[in-house]
Amino acid sequence: MSRTVPKADTEAHWVGPGDVAYERLRDLRHRLFFAELVEGRSLLDDGSEARAHHLVLTPPGRPSEVLAGGRGLRSHDRTYTISQMVVEPEYQGQGLGGRVLELLVDRAARHGAQRVVLAARVTAVGFYEAAGFSVCGDEFASATTGVPHVEMELRLKR
Ligand SMILES: CC(C)(COP(=O)(O)OP(=O)(O)OC[C@H]1O[C@@H](n2cnc3c(N)ncnc32)[C@H](O)[C@@H]1OP(=O)(O)O)[C@@H](O)C(=O)NCCC(=O)NCCS
Repeated sequence: MSRTVPKADTEAHWVGPGDVAYERLRDLRHRLFFAELVEGRSLLDDGSEARAHHLVLTPPGRPSEVLAGGRGLRSHDRTYTISQMVVEPEYQGQGLGGRVLELLVDRAARHGAQRVVLAARVTAVGFYEAAGFSVCGDEFASATTGVPHVEMELRLKR
């Protein structure tokens, strides 16, 4: 059963190593993306993890209870890469993913990015299209999970 939490009733926090919410976000990412794989938790620590910005949404006043999150990584060519977008299953479809995406794109713009890119699971393409992203590459299988993905991008105004 899904629970209703209006997005206005969530708080956004930027988190990192040492924050309880960062570990809860990693738990959620592990559960939704990698739990069935032998390599398991080690897959969370890819080449982007240490340098990325990590965002979580929590209920008001409960900063350790992670409902949704995602991460973003800035590169020198004015590109910002979003990855690992997750919403706790019972809270999906209520605007939380859209709010996380909006805040990551906003951070990309504040860093001067001209382009935001991501590899979308094909099952989530419509979610990113709803936020203005377009498919910009061929479908491919993830090297770690084998799940079909496609490259997408959003051009930001200068
Ligand atoms: C994909 C995911 C992050 C979306 O978050 P969410 O909170 O469920 O999405 P929202 O409620 O914010 O939806 C925002 C918009 O996208 C649309 N949307 C959401 N998921 C969609 C999907 N899978 N396919 C098509 N459209 C979708 C919604 O209808 C909504 O459209 P609207 O603005 O026109 O009403 C979430 O469902 C999730 O964690 N899925 C499992 C993990 C995953 O696949 N992550 C993405 C990896 S690339």
